[in-house]
Amino acid sequence: MLHSAGGPQPQDPRGAVIRPLDLEAHVDEALAVQAVAFGLGDDEIAVRRHIVLRHLRTPGARALGAWSGEGRLVGFVYGMPNDRTHWWSSVVSGYLREAGFEGWLDDAFVITELHVHPLYQQRGIGRRLITLLTDEAGEPRSLLSAIDTDSPARALYHRLGYRDLARGVHFPSAPSPYAVMGAWLPLRRR
Ligand SMILES: CC(C)(COP(=O)(O)OP(=O)(O)OC[C@H]1O[C@@H](n2cnc3c(N)ncnc32)[C@H](O)[C@@H]1OP(=O)(O)O)[C@@H](O)C(=O)NCCC(=O)NCCS
Repeated sequence: MLHSAGGPQPQDPRGAVIRPLDLEAHVDEALAVQAVAFGLGDDEIAVRRHIVLRHLRTPGARALGAWSGEGRLVGFVYGMPNDRTHWWSSVVSGYLREAGFEGWLDDAFVITELHVHPLYQQRGIGRRLITLLTDEAGEPRSLLSAIDTDSPARALYHRLGYRDLARGVHFPSAPSPYAVMGAWLPLRRR
């Protein structure tokens, strides 16, 4: 895995170079991006930090980062093959079963987080991050959850071919309902 901020510079000065991210080494930079993109407070970041580091011990967990020309991490994505024993999978399984999509929990690569710094959004970085990460997946399909509202994230996922498998999904401690979305791989190109 590449750790440093050196290497090739983006062709577009407003763009970013995408490459494998050692998320354990860069966890604080990544969470700083997530904090500003998604709006997390210090307490939530501390909780997320613990969860991310635990996720990285899952077999097949992978991350990509997006670096600006100045070598700053401006976006990241990570995910892993779905594991039915994981908390996320156990929460969504009942909803997927009810909707007739419970089988999607097998042979699926889960996108756990995708965030782009607001100053770098709407330049194709999010699309490149999730497309490149899932292109390398051995699984035939991908799952994710997103707050169940008309957000840029939901627009991006729909554009990429994700469809709603279950809506109104409640995660304990999350105030808003989520949608669970699934797509066949490779993701749809523009
Ligand atoms: C979701 C997010 C990662 C998208 O990253 P991004 O780099 O801005 O997205 P892209 O520039 O690659 O956009 C790709 C597509 O997403 C959609 N999209 C992105 N921003 C949008 C916006 N503000 N409004 C509507 N659609 C938008 C468009 O369909 C776009 O497709 P197009 O380029 O063909 O028009 C970014 O908005 C973000 O970090 N949001 C806050 C954190 C978050 O919600 N993360 C997801 C948690 S589930």
